[in-house]
Amino acid sequence: MSFHKQLQRRRTFGIISHPDAGKTTLTEKLLLFGGAIQVAGAVKSNKIKRSATSDFMEIERQRGISVATSVMAFEYRNLKINILDTPGHQDFQEDTYRTLTAVDSVIVVVDVAKGVETQTEKLVSVCRMRKTPIIVFINKLDREGLDGFDLLDELEQKLGLKVCPLSWPVGMGQRFQGVYSLYEKKLVLFRPHGKQSQEESFEINDLQSDELDRMVGEAAAEELREEVNMIESVYPPFNQEAYQQGNLSPVFFGSAINNFGVRELLDCFVEVAPPPLPRATEEREVRPEEDKFAGFVFKIHANMDPKHRDRIAFMRVCSGKFERNTNYLHVRQQRKMKFPNPTSFMAERKTVVDEAFPGDVVGLYDSGNFKIGDTVTEGEILHFKGIPSFSPEQFRYVDNADPLKYKQLDKGLEQLMDEGVAQLFVKEENNRKIIGTVGALQFDVIQYRLEHEYGAKCAYEPLNLHKACWISSDDEKAIEEFRQRRGRDLARDKHGKLVYLAESAWSLKMAQENHPEIQFHFTSEFGTN
Ligand code: G4P
Repeated sequence: MSFHKQLQRRRTFGIISHPDAGKTTLTEKLLLFGGAIQVAGAVKSNKIKRSATSDFMEIERQRGISVATSVMAFEYRNLKINILDTPGHQDFQEDTYRTLTAVDSVIVVVDVAKGVETQTEKLVSVCRMRKTPIIVFINKLDREGLDGFDLLDELEQKLGLKVCPLSWPVGMGQRFQGVYSLYEKKLVLFRPHGKQSQEESFEINDLQSDELDRMVGEAAAEELREEVNMIESVYPPFNQEAYQQGNLSPVFFGSAINNFGVRELLDCFVEVAPPPLPRATEEREVRPEEDKFAGFVFKIHANMDPKHRDRIAFMRVCSGKFERNTNYLHVRQQRKMKFPNPTSFMAERKTVVDEAFPGDVVGLYDSGNFKIGDTVTEGEILHFKGIPSFSPEQFRYVDNADPLKYKQLDKGLEQLMDEGVAQLFVKEENNRKIIGTVGALQFDVIQYRLEHEYGAKCAYEPLNLHKACWISSDDEKAIEEFRQRRGRDLARDKHGKLVYLAESAWSLKMAQENHPEIQFHFTSEFGTN
């Protein structure tokens, strides 16, 4: 198959949701349709249950699972579809943000009873910033939930999306009968057969026909007619270009667990979702159809096998064809590297891949050469943009708790920071190390992994800080003045960039007011140094 055809048949997306909305269930149903798995339950839930927040073994088990589910590929209607997994737990949200840099579109799952929840708001705002095309799937229609129109209002108000319903439920909960596909002008009825539910679909050319009353009952038919009328008068018609530019979001309704409404979603997705999109670099835009290969690492995972300390770096191919055993340039290290065993993962299976195309993600075994944001090319110096590190909000001093193991501690900390588990800052005044995270769970993960993977022990000391933010200025003098006045609150990140540790929201505000020549940044891009 030609390079162009390979490229055109890739669709790479992520599913995002607030925990428990049904992301794992929907992923599994999509994989079943694609024949990538044969039985339900093959994709283990990758979420860390709330009750297990301090259970390290649970965290380890989940990490093992999340290697396998990092990217799940399946074939459907002649397309190769890559689903990139995003961790459900909010303490690992940074991982999710980074994964979102490697997708071309997303599906957002919303629980019909809960409506738009906080985590969905945050994740969608990141997608909107990048203009990532979004499809919404309202799940759990087999349960009573919010009114469909109220939900659409929430999507518009809380998520800032311009929506366009492409399917509409007939009833809900006990009265849920099916969905009317506005996209295909088709009624899909849901007929429960004992535990197994089956769907039957009917083409309905005219919603006014008596056929509809016979199928769903007069009351439901009347309601559907009114609602569809309302949708057509209030919401814009679907427009693929507006969707692909991130300006219009189709909405589907269904029940993932019952496999209902999922095929309608998938059938529409494969028709409208974008093929691999160009990516911005510091130097220029990289287009997928270019001959020369370029890709970037968006996730690093420690190997779960304690005998092999290798890590797996997940790289998205952005242009050209990636080939096994070929010399490529590791841009940050300025050296050539070959990858003898690039791997794809699928549930329990691992496969060595000989080639990969734009939109694909390959796992590269790595003995410590990669950092998140690293670029690999055929020789050109490129730095992919937009893989940020976020301003952390939880802090602790980290000290060595075993004097004989300080080397192990340093190495362990360095590697865990490369993986993006947390950020390390070194205070200018006394060289003390500070770990900053977005969520509290990472502190336990770091301590546990330092001990089990590196044989090092660390101790934490509480540190009350409001935020760490990067500072910069064109005026060297301004920085010097800032240092004079607030030297106690300055630290360096791992790239040596200056960081201001603000004790409170008030001190941050004061610092900003008193030092107008200084810029305070709340995200920093990885890989730019
Ligand atoms: P997540 O990955 O977004 O966190 O959600 P997940 O798919 O694990 O689903 C969360 C819970 O919601 C699961 O129940 C799942 O079975 C249920 N669920 C998913 N889709 C539907 C649906 O369409 N209707 C209904 N009624 N429930 C749905 P659980 O009890 O937490 O887990 P499990 O024991 O069933 O695995």
